[in-house]
Amino acid sequence: MDAGLKQMNGELERKGSLTSSYLEEPLNKSGVVSCIFSLKEEVGALVKALKLFEEKGINLTHIESRPSRKNKKEYEIFISVDQASYKAMEEVVDSLRTQISGQVHELSRNKKKDTVPWFPNVIQDVDRFANQILSYGSELDADHPGFTDPVYRVRRKEFADIAFNYRHGQIIPQIEYTAEEKATWGKVFRELKTLYPTHACREHNLVFPLLEKYCGYREDNIPQLEDISRYLQSSTGFRLRPVAGLLSSRDFLAGLAFRVFHSTQYIRHSSKPMYTPEPDICHELLGHVPLFADPSFAQFSQEIGIASLGAPDEFIEKLATVYWFTVEFGLCKQGNEVKAYGAGLLSSFGELQYCLTDKPKLLPFDPEKTSMQKYPITEFQPVYFVAESFEDAKEKVRKFAATIPRPFTVHYNPYTQSIEVLDNTQQLKDLADSISGEISILCNALRKMK
Ligand SMILES: [Fe+2]
Repeated sequence: MDAGLKQMNGELERKGSLTSSYLEEPLNKSGVVSCIFSLKEEVGALVKALKLFEEKGINLTHIESRPSRKNKKEYEIFISVDQASYKAMEEVVDSLRTQISGQVHELSRNKKKDTVPWFPNVIQDVDRFANQILSYGSELDADHPGFTDPVYRVRRKEFADIAFNYRHGQIIPQIEYTAEEKATWGKVFRELKTLYPTHACREHNLVFPLLEKYCGYREDNIPQLEDISRYLQSSTGFRLRPVAGLLSSRDFLAGLAFRVFHSTQYIRHSSKPMYTPEPDICHELLGHVPLFADPSFAQFSQEIGIASLGAPDEFIEKLATVYWFTVEFGLCKQGNEVKAYGAGLLSSFGELQYCLTDKPKLLPFDPEKTSMQKYPITEFQPVYFVAESFEDAKEKVRKFAATIPRPFTVHYNPYTQSIEVLDNTQQLKDLADSISGEISILCNALRKMK
């Protein structure tokens, strides 16, 4: 895997169009220490700051600038140095705080005391971690059904390479699926479709026919990620992004904060059409996609993602568990019945039937308790959590998120597709203005309905 770091030293502009630029970082994120500091718009400010690094013999591996979102009279500098410079960096950070007016934020995946783990600020930042995968998609375990099939392994590498080379904003490459792959999809599609009317939640059953109409969901056709991504964007702003392998929980959840869902594009091995040891396109398209087209569920998923940004590791684990028991294996009340909305259920013929029998234990969804529940990953779940509704689940996740120890509050700006850290009065005023604009629209509409 290419773990190369693009050297971008010295490409700073002092004034004018200061924009954040794309960078690739090495696979081993723990080898990078990053920091953002803000500087006043005055001659010599940057030189003075860079001098501090030079004095300590620190080689900057990456540097970029952008106008400050917090203060129009300042601009922000993002820098990365290698791990060897970590000690010296601490001294420079202290000097920056005392000698340069402005704020300093240390960002690190290698969590140290008093640092906030790095998180993406803008949707393009997803490119920075999308390839920080725990294993490449073509590396199969010995017990994988496709392990001894060289053709399948070559195919898996093709899919992994597509995802690895993908960047935000590009069109997701179309796949010419083989007859064998289509046959596997067809079996899964046909079987599961018989269960949806009785076992899937209302939202899933509402969206499914639309996916058949607009996105090519058919027994004899594997839909294309790009078509689905466009459809989701038009309905809830969610988008799909191909992924080359397993992401860490932190990165996967961070994608949700931007309404980005990392999706596989390959299909399970044809020898076991009703089984897959990992997510595949059947799981994503039949399980996840219909729910991401529902506004309430989309908002709920994004809440989990936003809660994860900059959260300490122990809370990431808790949020990943909440995600597991909702987005993957959630049940919800609908009238007097309980239905499935989790993708792990909606894409498994066996577990979709099992989850609504009296065999598993059903508990009310409560993030505090749900986040502590242990679960098996290779067998049917012994415990499921039942949500009152997506709205209710969303509110509960919000309250849970408020207990996460973070020194700041974040807000997602859908116009700029960016995360705003709300830590100064100007930002709060801007947010209040925007809410007051929405309230005025609401009042107007209510008046006209009288
Ligand atoms: Fe999933």
